[in-house]
Amino acid sequence: MTGRKVIDKTPETIHLMFNMLSEKYDFMNNVMSFGTHHYVKYMCIKSLDIKHDGYVIDLCTGTGDLARIIKKLHPDAIVEGIDFSENMLKIAKKKSLNTKIQYFQGDVTNLPYPDNTFDAVTIGFGLRNIQNAEKAVEEIYRILKPGGSFLHLDFGNPNFLSKIYEKITPFLAKIFTENADFYEYLIKSKQNFLPPEDLIKDFESKGFKLKKREDYLSGVISSQTMTK
Ligand SMILES: C[S@@+](CC[C@H](N)C(=O)[O-])C[C@H]1O[C@@H](n2cnc3c(N)ncnc32)[C@H](O)[C@@H]1O
Repeated sequence: MTGRKVIDKTPETIHLMFNMLSEKYDFMNNVMSFGTHHYVKYMCIKSLDIKHDGYVIDLCTGTGDLARIIKKLHPDAIVEGIDFSENMLKIAKKKSLNTKIQYFQGDVTNLPYPDNTFDAVTIGFGLRNIQNAEKAVEEIYRILKPGGSFLHLDFGNPNFLSKIYEKITPFLAKIFTENADFYEYLIKSKQNFLPPEDLIKDFESKGFKLKKREDYLSGVISSQTMTK
């Protein structure tokens, strides 16, 4: 799960990068995905089996997109979000003012929860950025209740559309941000991350069982729902 080429994913680098990107993060997601990331995130959560009053955590929550969709679709659920970037969390909190979502600063490789705590655990576009992704998956398994659901969402298999995305992203980043190099990291991290098939095998090796895999936007984005 560490990737094939060496790219700098030390927690310090990733933490600094998202702190610096935070102000432009949502704007750039909208630009780079032509707004489609909202649709994909919504569809993923809609198809996730969550008890109406379940206890749910969104890991690597960033600006809280998935956490807010969960709360919107399941108003009685207790929803929490964790991220280690204080600047991303500041925006998440601002955007979630009228909700009861709780956000905490923390590291996904060392979660401050007892075993078997959550009915559902979600992580979107996060695992790819974690140097010790193995440890993060072990933590997810540990905090999930038996029978609970784990949703992993990220880029899928490379195809024609994703190649176009990889070509235009650096240009858009140069036009709209002062941190074009961070978006070069995004492309590299995407190219070096495991494809959905291998991710599923990896999750299964940690004890998870596959519930379903769903592909969006012709497979540019893929989600895997696992259970414990
Ligand atoms: C690409 S963003 C995804 C944000 C959000 N889930 C979304 O879908 O828009 C990745 C997030 O993971 C966070 N992150 C990376 N490694 C982390 C770790 N070890 N512990 C907690 N958060 C981490 C970053 O700070 C960043 O906010």
